[in-house]
Order: sequence, then C-alpha cells, then structure tokens
Amino acid sequence: MRKKVGVLVSGRGSNLQALLDACADPSFPAEIALVISNVPGVYALERAEKAGVPTLVIPHKGFPSREAFDAEMDKALRAAGIEIVCLAGFMRLLSPPFAEGWRGRMINIHPALLPSFKGLHTHARAIEAGVKLHGCTVHLVTPELDDGPILVQKAVPVLAQDDEDSLAARVLEQEHKAYPEALRLLAEGRVTVEGNRALIRDA
Ligand code: GRF
Repeated sequence: MRKKVGVLVSGRGSNLQALLDACADPSFPAEIALVISNVPGVYALERAEKAGVPTLVIPHKGFPSREAFDAEMDKALRAAGIEIVCLAGFMRLLSPPFAEGWRGRMINIHPALLPSFKGLHTHARAIEAGVKLHGCTVHLVTPELDDGPILVQKAVPVLAQDDEDSLAARVLEQEHKAYPEALRLLAEGRVTVEGNRALIRDA
C-alpha cells in the first residue's frame, strides 16, 4: 500500500511539484492525497489541481489562535486518512500539539544545511557569513522551528559571484531531489529515531 501524504503549502509550490512528479510513478511508495494551503490563490494549488489532487484552503486569518487553525488542519488531514505530512514552503509556525500529534510522520524542507541558518533569509545569511558550502535539509518536524532529526541533506558550493537569487536557484535544484528522497525513506518505513539522530535502514 502506498502511504497517503498530505502536503501543506503557502506559495509557489515547486517542492510540491517535485513530490507530485515522484508520486506520479506508481512504484513510488507514497501518493499525495491532499494539499492544504493557508493562503488562497497560490500557484501550489494550481499545481495540485493539475495533478488531480484534492485541495483545501484554510485561511489562518479566520481563526482565533494558532492552536485553533492547526486543529482545523489536523481534522482535515485525519479525515482524508493522511499518514505522512510534508511541509513544502508552509510559512506558519506550528503549535506544539500539532507538531507532537504528527511526530515522526511529518517532514519539512529547509533551504540551508541545518543546524546552520535556521529561520528566514538563509541564502543571504550564508553569503554574508562567507560559508563555502550551503544547501538544503529535509528533517522530521519537532515543536522547535527548523529542528528535528535530519533525513537528507544536499550541499552546493557558494561561488564568489553569487547573490541571493543565484544561490537560491542552485539550492532549489537540490531541494527538488532531496524531498522525494526523504519522503521515500519515511514511506518505506526505513527511519528510526535515536535522540537527535534519524537512523536510516539500508542507506
Ligand atoms: C523552499 O526554498 C523551501 O526550502 C522553503 O520554502 C521554499 C518553498 O518553495 N521551506 P516552493 O514553494 O516549494 O517553491
């Protein structure tokens, strides 16, 4: 049985596209069964519709608290029988009950080599810091922002002439490889967690 995946988005959805493309192969161990956006009208929703995947818009502004918004997402994910949640450019902090409720079954992609450069504006900060290697990380989600056991990382060089955009583009190319790889590992049940480390069977 392919694992049922819910993807949470807020924007253009290029990582969602990478996951949709991977799942288009029937031998891939996961299928995307629901895409939820907290922002109406974003391109990610169009991508899902084009792939024939059900979408849901839950505008966070309509909720009295983060917990209430997250509870609504949780309800929708569970009603759709979702087993794994992927955050793909989802620009909301998660409440601890939601993060705990999906612990071990929720992953995020972050555009930096964690634990360096948590948070926003990672590419500008990497250039500013003068690092020679930068990249992306797919990790299991815990209640702390951009934390949690690492599943897959991909590195790229930072070149002397790079600006934020050129570096972002180089990293994004790797994100689109890293995310399907990580989803495969989780969907195949090859991940166990020991402390802060994710151990991958048959890596
Ligand atoms: C990506 O860089 C991802 O790493 C970060 O937000 C961006 C989303 O881009 N979390 P997209 O919507 O997947 O194109």
